[in-house]
Amino acid sequence: MMSQVGDAPGAAASEPLVSVRGLRVRRGRVTVFDGLDVEIPRGQITGLLGPSGCGKTTLMRSIVGVQKVAGGTVRVLGHPAGSAALRHRVAYDTQSASVYGDITIEQNLRYFARLIGAPRSDVDRVLAQVGLTEQARQRADSLSGGQENRVSLAVAMLGSPELLVLDEPTVGLDPLLRSELWRVFRELAEAGATLIVSSHVMDEAARCDRVLLMRAGHIVADTTPAGLLAETGESDPDAAFLALVERDDRAQREAHARRRRERS
Ligand SMILES: Nc1ncnc2c1ncn2[C@@H]1O[C@H](COP(=O)(O)OP(=O)(O)O)[C@@H](O)[C@H]1O
Ligand SMILES: [Mg+2]
Repeated sequence: MMSQVGDAPGAAASEPLVSVRGLRVRRGRVTVFDGLDVEIPRGQITGLLGPSGCGKTTLMRSIVGVQKVAGGTVRVLGHPAGSAALRHRVAYDTQSASVYGDITIEQNLRYFARLIGAPRSDVDRVLAQVGLTEQARQRADSLSGGQENRVSLAVAMLGSPELLVLDEPTVGLDPLLRSELWRVFRELAEAGATLIVSSHVMDEAARCDRVLLMRAGHIVADTTPAGLLAETGESDPDAAFLALVERDDRAQREAHARRRRERS
């Protein structure tokens, strides 16, 4: 069961679970965000979709509080992102697997469960949820890429966090496994968890409740899968994304022209 207690005073259930305001992030010489505003609703699967390099990982890092930010605020469950109060309530599955290769899957999970103070019984539960019960005694370095992804997802699920931030968890998986993982995400959301799932594959938009389309550090659309198609009149998410990008380009050009007219 998901715990719903412990929000900061005044954090009503109707408030967005994540609230990003005026976020500015520089990485190296690149300004990734220059005043980004985003809200993520509770108890839903929000898809963060967009091409490589658009800022999905940087936004996720900002939400879990591991990204150095140059300005703005990021609040999660009524607390500043990365606060100690959020430590066991927010889980982050990074793009690269973070398990120890020289021990078994089960040993990895026991280790991480102890680390976060999750009950021992959680290990069996998460193994079953990601379909790795049979492989529990296998060394982690003997796994396929897809199995490794599932182990790090299992680690993120330990302790039943209220928010799971999953960075491209289905990348490189075959369609069957992808669909199984999406079933797990749906189960977690139905049990009350909030999920943020990134992908650069547009057709994963259809699996989400809410879709944030990103491009070059800004949100091109904040919509639903049905809304995405309806707004653009397209029949597949890829075409819809392209239509929105063109619309966005047009809007940017017009805004630019307007600013120039105002100046002259
Ligand atoms: N460690 C880094 N140093 C400098 N620039 C970075 C670093 N990591 C990412 N970037 C840049 O930040 C931008 C956003 O990257 P990222 O958030 O990883 O995008 P995505 O996850 O959507 O592929 C890109 O322009 C990328 O080149
Ligand atoms: Mg990324």
